[in-house]
Amino acid sequence: MDTTTFALRWIGFAVMAGTFVAAAAAVAQPSPSGSDPQVAFNNHCRTCHSAEPGDNRLGPTLHGVMGRKAGGVEGFAYSPGFKTTNVVWDEANMDQFIANPNSLFPGSNMATFAGLSDAGERKAIIDYLKTLK
Ligand code: HEC
Repeated sequence: MDTTTFALRWIGFAVMAGTFVAAAAAVAQPSPSGSDPQVAFNNHCRTCHSAEPGDNRLGPTLHGVMGRKAGGVEGFAYSPGFKTTNVVWDEANMDQFIANPNSLFPGSNMATFAGLSDAGERKAIIDYLKTLK
């Protein structure tokens, strides 16, 4: 085989390998933001929240939280703001709450959590919360 054929074969191989690597990377990153949803949750929320039903820690379980009324976990002692609220958790208010808990529930016991300014991380966490049903 002459040099040109050899070079073309290599280019073909390299393109195929590149496609494969790109596909593998796409599978490994379920969130468009680049953050892995479960890792983001573990990093920022798991100290105080479990994803298991009925498992209340410092904060209430977040199992099934999306679409549920705020303050709706039986047997958890919420701060007063949660007891009278009409908030039903959706993507928009959850994003606001994670960015700044006090902006939605002033005086909330979660205010010890300062809020998460990275929108990509918040999106990843909300994607994870949606899987908890
Ligand atoms: C320092 C501990 C702590 C951390 C960290 C924390 N939380 Fe909380 N969270 C709480 C507490 C305590 C409450 C109850 C608040 C109240 O009663 O005022 C709460 C309440 C909530 C609620 C309301 C639940 C309901 O039933 O309505 C949501 C949603 C929530 N947290 C999501 C998160 C998410 C998402 C993260 C991570 C980004 C997070 N929290 C990180 C302590 C924490």
